[in-house]
Amino acid sequence: MTAIKGRDSFKSKFGVIAAAAGSAIGLGNIWKFPYITGENGGAAFLFVYLAFIAVIGLPIMLSELIIGRKAHRNAIGSFKKLAPATLWKYIGIFGVGAAFFILSFYGVVAGWSIRYIFIAFSDLSYNGAESVNAFFNSFIKNPLQPLIYQLIFMFLTGLIVIIGVQKGIEKFSKILMPILLVLIIVLDIRALTLPGASDGLRFLFHPDFGKLSFEGVLVALGHAFFSLSLGMGTLITYGSYINKKNNLIRVAINVTIADTLIAILAGIAIIPAVFAFNLEPSEGPGLIFITLPNVFKSMPGGDFFSVLFFVLLTIAALTSAISILEVVVAYFSEELKMKRRVATVFATVLISLLGIICSLSLGIYSNYTFFGLNVFDLLDFISANILLPIGGMLISLFVGWSLGKYKVFKEIAHGGSLKGSFLVIFMFLVRFLAPLAIFFVFIKGVGLID
Ligand code: PFF
Repeated sequence: MTAIKGRDSFKSKFGVIAAAAGSAIGLGNIWKFPYITGENGGAAFLFVYLAFIAVIGLPIMLSELIIGRKAHRNAIGSFKKLAPATLWKYIGIFGVGAAFFILSFYGVVAGWSIRYIFIAFSDLSYNGAESVNAFFNSFIKNPLQPLIYQLIFMFLTGLIVIIGVQKGIEKFSKILMPILLVLIIVLDIRALTLPGASDGLRFLFHPDFGKLSFEGVLVALGHAFFSLSLGMGTLITYGSYINKKNNLIRVAINVTIADTLIAILAGIAIIPAVFAFNLEPSEGPGLIFITLPNVFKSMPGGDFFSVLFFVLLTIAALTSAISILEVVVAYFSEELKMKRRVATVFATVLISLLGIICSLSLGIYSNYTFFGLNVFDLLDFISANILLPIGGMLISLFVGWSLGKYKVFKEIAHGGSLKGSFLVIFMFLVRFLAPLAIFFVFIKGVGLID
């Protein structure tokens, strides 16, 4: 397949799906999804999340791919090209801001994952749930150790982005994502055969809507965006590297299914184990780092699986982190005319500095809170629950009202046939249902209406 002239591009059809899935599948699925499901009451949260994925996430994913492939530009340049001299370009600026915030705390958690690769090798003396818990808490509060791992992760992220889209991102994702899937299934089997696992399954799949607050609904919406990498132009940027022969609908459906499947499988690996080991599902961001060591300890070859798991989790985080950094770098290099290398170093350094503050906010800076949240939780909340949904809403309005039916039809039809009824449903979703639903959940979730 030919490359898009003058710009890097993805080579194969599978490569496109693997790279987009590589962006979507990451800490959001394996670290964040289980713990926010635990905090928000389990199955009811899961069901609302799935509904948001189907009626909001999927159409907005297709919207981003359409914008990117049509414009062949970064997240801001795309709007400038498709709607010159309008305010739409500010969607991209929101996106670059969200990328900064997300990658700063993302790098911290990815650093924890790197640390856990080595614990599995050397520290075989876990003594039940208590000591695992104590280890995790003292590690994340340490003023120096987590920073070292966070910076290693950020360095690797910057390095792959410098190597480039095809050689770096595509190759990585194609091989490693399938291995991760298999490993999670192994963990599922172990978790499901633990005594007491059935309570966890009930928690995960038997909804009690009374347990879900409206803020929980907003968290579910925000997570649909976070998990699918939507609302900040990541998939606009990746869409710009997709050539015209690819079928965008197929890419969007495959990526959405893969992402959702991995999240549910991660939930099945973690939540039943939480119940089996008498831990709390509402434990918060440490949930997998506290639960999984217990699971590994209880299985034959646990150390081996533990190393493999945290290696793959780190890589899943890397393929997502590079897509986040790519949004900023594509903007700096194409709009601000910086050299790509310089742009990458500059963005990586700035984000790492913010990341250091995030990490310290769990320890020595934990007294500094804003609206009751430390910096780590604040950046997570603002980006996932405010910036991404607003970005997503504007993107769907842009495709529905500014780009319009005809151009959308032409862009989708490039890579495959298109049924008229599909277009009607899609346009209805992006013009009305998705933006209105986001608007309503958002204003109610942040407490602007009762
Ligand atoms: N989707 C990634 C995850 O679930 O870990 C995180 C992410 C990547 C969020 C890219 C946003 C983004 F643009």
